[in-house]
Amino acid sequence: MTKQDLVAYAAALPKAELHLHIEGSLEPEMLFKLAQRNKVDIPFKSVEEIRAAYEFSNLQDFLDIYYQGMSVLLSEEDFFDLTMAYLNRARADNVRHVEIFFDPQGHTERGVPFDTAISGILTALSMAKAQFGMTAKLIMCFLRHLPEEDAFATLKQAENWLDRIDGVGLDSSEVGHPPSKFARVFKAASERGLKLVAHAGEEGPPDYVHEALDLLEIDRLDHGNRSLEDDALVARLAAEEMTLTVCPLSNLKLCVVDDMREHPLKRMLDLNLRATVNSDDPSYFGGYMNDNFKAVIEALPLTREDVKTLARNSFLGSFLSEGEKRAQLAAIDLV
Ligand code: ADE
Ligand code: ZN
Repeated sequence: MTKQDLVAYAAALPKAELHLHIEGSLEPEMLFKLAQRNKVDIPFKSVEEIRAAYEFSNLQDFLDIYYQGMSVLLSEEDFFDLTMAYLNRARADNVRHVEIFFDPQGHTERGVPFDTAISGILTALSMAKAQFGMTAKLIMCFLRHLPEEDAFATLKQAENWLDRIDGVGLDSSEVGHPPSKFARVFKAASERGLKLVAHAGEEGPPDYVHEALDLLEIDRLDHGNRSLEDDALVARLAAEEMTLTVCPLSNLKLCVVDDMREHPLKRMLDLNLRATVNSDDPSYFGGYMNDNFKAVIEALPLTREDVKTLARNSFLGSFLSEGEKRAQLAAIDLV
């Protein structure tokens, strides 16, 4: 199979997206439109100027722009429009199921109520289910650069919504904010029946992945790239069938890898890790699901079987029921 055929095969496969920050799907055009609609001052005069600002040398560089971009999201309608645009874009890539992150603290600290943000997001998720059968889970992330107390306050604000929130996650500036800082609030979330995921090993050391496993007791690992520096950790992740939500274009844009040809995705698969492909913050990193597949297929010696495994892993690592997983896996075999 040529690389071109493999890219087409990947595009046609049913897939799940497991690592997507909804605020990171805010395209420059929508950012500009919402700034005008809501009369929010932004330091850019055009869509082109916004796009030109998307050059990052590390995670923090990106986060500074990402939090600034969020400032245009004020009303329930804004969150609905943002989410609907992403779901339509994901659908075009044959994404059949999404597990979406949102960052409530990025909004409440600007005076936007928790309920406004989550209502807009949930309305879009229900509409996508009704209109085109896309299923979704919602994961509320805690910002790790803030104190654990603030995460507890966020969990309290979520109390009335817990039947519509599937899990909690941990994101934002990794180095200096280890998972151990959030052990208590993750335990509280677990006691409320929520699934647990955490970003670890993106910029942080393998020890942070150990902490996420041992102290947070995560159900899924976001990124996890630096796990490969620790052989015992790799063996453990493989034995536990831990899903890694890998984000190739994000890794390139944030300089986690210097060149896509050095990306660890193929090595992860060869080490029997349950790796998946995801877009993280697609509007900032230059591509959605199929763009990520295209980038790794072009740069790495991935086989047809590898590509199929990546699509299978996305459903196996999801929080869908066993019956729903079986149906999606059967659909993969038909392509
Ligand atoms: N928030 C949004 N995208 C993120 C990433 N890739 N790492 C940490 N926090 C994030
Ligand atoms: Zn992320």
